[in-house]
Amino acid sequence: MALYSDKVMDHFRNPRNVGVIENADGIGEVGNAKCGDIMKIYLKIDNEIITDVKFETFGCGSAIASSSMATELIKGKPVSEALQLSNKAVAEALDGLPAHKLHCSVLAEEAIKTAIEDYYKKNDKTESQA
Ligand code: FES
Repeated sequence: MALYSDKVMDHFRNPRNVGVIENADGIGEVGNAKCGDIMKIYLKIDNEIITDVKFETFGCGSAIASSSMATELIKGKPVSEALQLSNKAVAEALDGLPAHKLHCSVLAEEAIKTAIEDYYKKNDKTESQA
């Protein structure tokens, strides 16, 4: 069996939503100290709906594929739903990741949560008010 699924290879080779959003409503940057990979997520939010999302990932292929898939999964969704996105859901949507690459999908979950926290902070909201 190939180490990486076709979906991982597809999102690695043709990542969706790469880039920067100027004047983003929320920005989240996280890194993994062990591998040194860094992921940054930008969110545009309108009426509690994620209308646009972009990412910049300086990292391995699985981190790029995870960011790409995660952005696809939360685009057009309510913020409350995006907050529920788990790394497991990202890995499953990619038809799995090798065990030693699961932490790459964790970065995607953390980057989205951090970006949403940033949005809440900027808008003086707490999660319960969302
Ligand atoms: Fe660390 Fe992929 S090896 S994010």
